Amino acid sequence: MLIKKPSDIPSSDITPEAIYRARRDFMRGAFSVGVLGAAGMVVPGVLAEPVHVAEAENKGPDWLKREIASAKADSQNVSDKLTPYEHVTQYNNFYEFGYNKDDPAKNSKHFQPHPWSVEIAGEAGKTGRFTLEDILKGMALEERVYRLRCVEAWSMVIPWVGFPLASLLKRFEPTGNAKYVAFTTLKDPKQMPAQKSAFSSIDWPYVEGLRIDEAMHPLTMLAVGLYGKVLPNQNGAPLRLVVPWKYGFKSIKSIVKMEFTEKEPPTTWNISAPQEYGFYANVNPKVDHPRWSQATERRLPSGLFSPNIIDTQLFNGYADEVAHLYKGMNLKKYY
Ligand code: MTE
Repeated sequence: MLIKKPSDIPSSDITPEAIYRARRDFMRGAFSVGVLGAAGMVVPGVLAEPVHVAEAENKGPDWLKREIASAKADSQNVSDKLTPYEHVTQYNNFYEFGYNKDDPAKNSKHFQPHPWSVEIAGEAGKTGRFTLEDILKGMALEERVYRLRCVEAWSMVIPWVGFPLASLLKRFEPTGNAKYVAFTTLKDPKQMPAQKSAFSSIDWPYVEGLRIDEAMHPLTMLAVGLYGKVLPNQNGAPLRLVVPWKYGFKSIKSIVKMEFTEKEPPTTWNISAPQEYGFYANVNPKVDHPRWSQATERRLPSGLFSPNIIDTQLFNGYADEVAHLYKGMNLKKYY
């Protein structure tokens, strides 16, 4: 797979490969001697910014920690400067846990993502319920650095750990009628406090979908970790989708069901506000949101005196890899 580095990223924004690898090796080493579990520890040294590692942030069964620690870095990684761990894990959208950016980290502390299973349904030769262990069996985990561009016009660069969604979907032998894949998040108001709220504008559970060729695209991945650690609850533990050329809301978290369908499945934000959020949701600086421009984005970390505004790229910079999927389509109509 080829993930090219777009030519217009300033070199000042780029983490040299050697430093990135050194950081990875350092973190791997830390794993092997078991220091990353120490609450409140600060990992110093090769990291441009220190990573505060709390016990809660590498929670999960030992087998999963081992798999994640042994993930191979994808050699074609995008090399933009990484967004620090604190921002990736404390500035979140996970409305099941609240509507403020710091709610998911605060309110998901007691969420139990293990044991976990995913139902596979619909137009496929093999369907049924599969445990997380079944899903990861034989899957070579990779670390991939992707940009995440939220429709709200902020963005991050995150080193995910996971595997191509296609490797999983192929196992279930989708039939010729499988034109789409529908995804569903857990609905469990006891664990997800905002699902209890009578004022919620979302009809739970959160649902998303992709066309089958988008789902099978080599860039589309399922993540189980980030920054070499188990995926924190607030980022969608234990299993979430990552579709780097689409607005972040397509990257559905804490997935409990995947269904192969013949018709385009309903999607949460499109149900809530169809004139604002489409099914495709491809990052596109030329197609504005009805209430704000999508031409630029605020790359985190950003502050009042250094807002760090950068130009948004078509398909979030992955046009060489994905533009062919939309050949001949009017991207203004299919937003
Ligand atoms: N998945 C579920 N189940 N619930 C959500 O509220 N928010 C989406 C997406 N996946 C969301 C979700 C949005 S709007 C974004 S931008 C990304 O998750 C944010 O992912 P992050 O918090 O890991 O950065």
